[in-house]
Amino acid sequence: MALPKNTQSIQVKAGSSSYPVICGAGSLSPLSELLITHAGVGPLFVLSSPRVWNFCGPKIRHALKGANVSRVILFDDHESAKTPRAVEMLCRKLIRAGARRNATIVAAGGGVVGDIAGFVAATFLRGVSLVHVPTTLLAQVDSAIGGKTGVNLPEGKNLVGAFHQPKLVVCDPTLLNSLPERQFRAGLFEVVKYAAIADQRLFELMEAKLTGISRHDMRALMEIILRCVKIKAAIVGRDEREDGGRAVLNFGHTLGHALETVTNYRHFLHGEAVGWGMLAASLVSVALGKLDPDVAARMIRMIAGVERLPALSKTSATRILDVMQRDKKSREGIVRWVLPIGIGRAEYGAAVPQESFRRVWAALPEWERKAREAECLGAEYRA
Ligand SMILES: NC(=O)c1ccc[n+]([C@@H]2O[C@H](COP(=O)([O-])OP(=O)(O)OC[C@H]3O[C@@H](n4cnc5c(N)ncnc54)[C@H](O)[C@@H]3O)[C@@H](O)[C@H]2O)c1
Ligand SMILES: [Zn+2]
Repeated sequence: MALPKNTQSIQVKAGSSSYPVICGAGSLSPLSELLITHAGVGPLFVLSSPRVWNFCGPKIRHALKGANVSRVILFDDHESAKTPRAVEMLCRKLIRAGARRNATIVAAGGGVVGDIAGFVAATFLRGVSLVHVPTTLLAQVDSAIGGKTGVNLPEGKNLVGAFHQPKLVVCDPTLLNSLPERQFRAGLFEVVKYAAIADQRLFELMEAKLTGISRHDMRALMEIILRCVKIKAAIVGRDEREDGGRAVLNFGHTLGHALETVTNYRHFLHGEAVGWGMLAASLVSVALGKLDPDVAARMIRMIAGVERLPALSKTSATRILDVMQRDKKSREGIVRWVLPIGIGRAEYGAAVPQESFRRVWAALPEWERKAREAECLGAEYRA
């Protein structure tokens, strides 16, 4: 089928699945047709949140005109509600609403809706079809692509989950118009992540156009979304189940997830916690002699330029280390970090000595302050 003008389709090939990510302003309009082509004609169950549905519901409903929508089910999409209980509640609602194995779940929302609805699709009746309509920047560049689904436990982030690839992802940046500013900026941290680990050109683009991007300039926004989707598609295509290269996508997440956990998922937005995590990983990498201090300074300036990060809570380094050890990526109690080794290059699997982490942790707030005040000098850290 013909796609609207200025829309691009990027194919994700992950294991035995292959599906398109349709990107562009207006990509939502052929949704009904796209659903038939990629997910078939079975009944659709739209899973979303009251907030998302309030802002994006009219557009999505309009795009679903003529489609076989059985039910729209709304649920709380606060990070602290991303729990196994939410999954149980949704599965029960689905079965009572008549959903069977030919159902397709359409997840319309940010990463929380996508992760919960994705996990429901992975497990309900041992798996039904899934389509993502991401409505946050973070979800459009990251969480809707690649098949990771799951929920949190009090003990840690995303500790219960499954890989379940969607049949289709539709990223329409016009859905971001109603996104609160803080949420938009939280998504930009994941964009910085891609640039830092895989795309020097994207990093330079961000340096040059951060102001335009922050003002939601549609062309600049489309360019960064497309670059991120292509990077994620390529990485997931090489390593669907994170047996190797996909792990670099966790840059900033080792500390980021621990920060979210110790604050009961209420103090930081996910992207903000990742912002602190990338800042820490850059400093750790300098301390271990893997990253030039001047390059680290550039990264820190970029992170600080996206948004003023919420203050770190008064958590001890010991507590953070304890939580990081429970992370899915740690092995025999040794925390594995993704460390940047240049702009656009990262290394996975570094075991960071506890002492190095403690020193960086103590210095973190000061570094963020300095970077914001643009007096971040690489040589200073070397000393
Ligand atoms: N599965 C993955 O690969 C993956 C990758 C990255 C992040 N994640 C997960 O994603 C989650 C974070 O997702 P997020 O940043 O999208 O946040 P989110 O889903 O919490 O959404 C942020 C807030 O914005 C609201 N919202 C969403 N779209 C809106 C719109 N268009 N207009 C107005 N309000 C809107 C939501 O209701 C919510 O209150 C975390 O749980 C994180 O672990 C998953
Ligand atoms: Zn993330």
